Amino acid sequence: MTANRCCLSQRARWAGGEPIANLLMAKTVAHPELISLAAGFVDQQTLPVEPTQTALERMLADPDAARAALQYGTTVGYLPLREAILDRMLEADGCTAGEVNISVDRLVMTAGSNQLLYLVADVLLDPGDIVLCGSPSYYVFLGTMANLGVRPVGVASDQCGLIPEAIEECLARLEADGELGRVKAIYVTTYYDNPTGVTVSAERRAALVELAQRWSHRSKIRVIEDAAYRELRYYGDDVPSLRSFDPGGDTVVFAGTFSKSFSPGIRVGWGILPPDLVAPVLNEKGNIDFGSPNFNQHLMAEVLRSGLFDAHVARLQEGYRRKIDATLDAADTFLGPIEGVRWLRPTGGLYVWIELPEAIETGLASPLFEQALTEGVLYLPGEYCYPDAGRTSPRNMLRLTFGIQSCQSIRQGVEALGRAIRHVIGQG
Ligand SMILES: Cc1ncc(COP(=O)(O)O)c(C=O)c1O
Repeated sequence: MTANRCCLSQRARWAGGEPIANLLMAKTVAHPELISLAAGFVDQQTLPVEPTQTALERMLADPDAARAALQYGTTVGYLPLREAILDRMLEADGCTAGEVNISVDRLVMTAGSNQLLYLVADVLLDPGDIVLCGSPSYYVFLGTMANLGVRPVGVASDQCGLIPEAIEECLARLEADGELGRVKAIYVTTYYDNPTGVTVSAERRAALVELAQRWSHRSKIRVIEDAAYRELRYYGDDVPSLRSFDPGGDTVVFAGTFSKSFSPGIRVGWGILPPDLVAPVLNEKGNIDFGSPNFNQHLMAEVLRSGLFDAHVARLQEGYRRKIDATLDAADTFLGPIEGVRWLRPTGGLYVWIELPEAIETGLASPLFEQALTEGVLYLPGEYCYPDAGRTSPRNMLRLTFGIQSCQSIRQGVEALGRAIRHVIGQG
C-alpha cells in the first residue's frame, strides 16, 4: 500500500518499503501448492498443544492465582519467571550469579526478543550511529536499525562466527575516518545463526567481548547477543553464552526467547541488561506498553516449573534433527553434483545457507526465483540478509528453512531447487 509519504515521520520513511517477510508470506498464501522453504516459521506439528493445556489447567485451578495472571503485570515482568530463567541460564553456562555479576533485577521480560532488541537499539542508538554485524545478519534486526536511522556495517564471518580480525580492521578504519565514536554496538546471533546456521565458537565469544571493551575509548561499545536458537541443538555440546564471558556484566546485552523453543504465539522473550541500561529500557518500555502480556508470562512460569518445557524441547530436538538430516541429505543428493553450489552444515537452528555460482542471482526478480516458483519451491533470497541489501554484497546466496515442512516435502523442495538451478545454468 502506498501512503502519502510526505506526511510520515522520518522514522517511517527510514523504515522503507514492505518487509521481505510480508512479501514471502503473500507468495505462500497466493500459491499454496508451493513448498515453502522460505518463511522462518517453527514446525506446526510439534507446537505444544498438550503441554499448554496442562499448564493452563494448573494455572486456572486456583482462582486467586488465575486472577493475578489475568490482571496487568509489571513493566519488568513476572518475578518467578525471571528467577526461573536466570537459574536455568546460570546452570547452562556453568557459573554462579556472582561470577558473572548478574542478578534478577537485570532481567527484563518482553513480548518476544524482537521487542527487547528494538528497545535496546532505541535507547542506545541515535540516527547515524553505527552497529557492526555479520554480513549476512538477521534481516529483521537490519530492519530495526533502518527504522532508527542507524548504519549497520557488515563484517566478515566464517564457520566459527564473526572474525575478530575483521572487526578489528573495521574499527581501525572507522577510527581513521573519525567515526569510532559513532560505533555503539556489535550485534551477533550466537547460536545457529539466522541465516547462516553458524554457532560462534567459545574462543570467538571471548574475543568479541575483549574487542568491544578494548575499543570503547571513544564511546562504550556493547555486544548484543541474540540467543534465539540456543535450545534448538541437534548435535554437539552447548556452548556457554557470550554473556558468560563478560564477568563485569557491563558489555553484553543478552536477548532470549521462548518463541523457537516453545511457542511463537505465546511470544515471551527477555533481556539481561548491563546495569546502566535497565532503567532506560524500563522507562521506555513503560511509556510504550507498561508491561508485556502478564498471562503469557504466568503460563511460561508454570511450563518451566512443571518440567513441561524440558520434555517439549527434547521432543523438538528429536523432530528437528530428522528435518535437518533430511535437508542436508537432500542437498548432498540434488545440489552436491552441481558445480559451484556449496552450503554450511549447521548442528542446530532452522536454517541452511547456500552459495550458488557467482553468476546466479537469487533475488525476487531473478530468473532463478521465477524458475524455482515454476518448479514448486520458495526460498529466501540471500540479499535481504546483508546490511547493504545486496548493493555490494553477494547476490548469489539463498536461505532454506526446514522448520515447517515434512521430511518428504523438504526432499521434494530441495530437489525442485536443484532442477531450477540446473535450468538457469543451462544444465536442465
Ligand atoms: C535471530 C533471531 N532473533 C530473534 C528472533 C525473534 O523472535 P521473537 O521476537 O519471536 O522472540 C528471531 C525470529 O525469527 C530470530 O531469527
